[in-house]
Amino acid sequence: MNNSGKIFAGLAIFLLLITLPLWYSAAFGGATEKPDLKIVCDAKECVAPTAYMTAYHMDLLNEWRDEVVRDRDRLYTAENGKTFDKSLSRTCMNCHYNKADFCDQCHDYAGVKPYCWDCHVEPKETP
Ligand code: HEC
Ligand code: HEC
Ligand code: HEC
Repeated sequence: MNNSGKIFAGLAIFLLLITLPLWYSAAFGGATEKPDLKIVCDAKECVAPTAYMTAYHMDLLNEWRDEVVRDRDRLYTAENGKTFDKSLSRTCMNCHYNKADFCDQCHDYAGVKPYCWDCHVEPKETP
């Protein structure tokens, strides 16, 4: 008697089942939830164009820090002419005070943990 056909079929089904989560995420995109960003402020625009902010907000924050700490230069003028205090807690987090539903959404997804909150005041959920 030759059972190898059945054994291989069984093995194939078994392999398919245990690897199903992988196939599923390959087909339907990612096992982890995509970031669900909530904009809570009344403003329509960020301090720079959205595409720039999405990709380069960390660079802008570094620039702000250097300019404040080295040059005491606290005034930032946006492209739309609005001016802002170059401050993480008082400016960014004034609009994006829902850190858990905004900053953390992306950072958890991307696996980054900015250490800024060791020193800078983390916003409470209310503005
Ligand atoms: C005046 C309110 C305001 C301030 C201040 C502000 N933002 Fe924004 N931010 C917004 C709004 C509104 C949007 C969404 C713009 C849009 O929908 O095109 C946004 C978008 C963003 C995005 C892109 C989100 C995405 O969908 O990819 C990032 C990242 C961001 N902000 C970070 C920051 C950081 C960091 C600071 C401080 C340097 C800051 N913001 C300051 C209002 C603000
Ligand atoms: C659209 C997604 C997204 C949003 C929204 C977002 N970030 Fe980020 N952030 C990232 C990614 C991705 C990185 C890592 C980039 C890299 O490593 O080059 C990052 C990196 C950073 C860094 C540098 C951290 C490090 O250790 O190098 C800081 C600071 C930062 N984000 C602050 C903020 C703040 C504050 C907010 C909310 C106001 C915010 N981000 C919102 C995606 C986002
Ligand atoms: C070890 C403590 C410490 C850590 C960690 C830290 N900072 Fe700061 N930061 C300071 C101090 C102190 C100042 C000077 C405050 C002043 O002169 O108003 C400052 C100033 C700044 C400023 C300009 C002033 C302001 O009100 O925000 C920015 C922007 C800034 N830091 C961003 C960041 C970011 C982004 C991170 C994380 C990637 C970070 N800092 C991590 C201590 C820290």
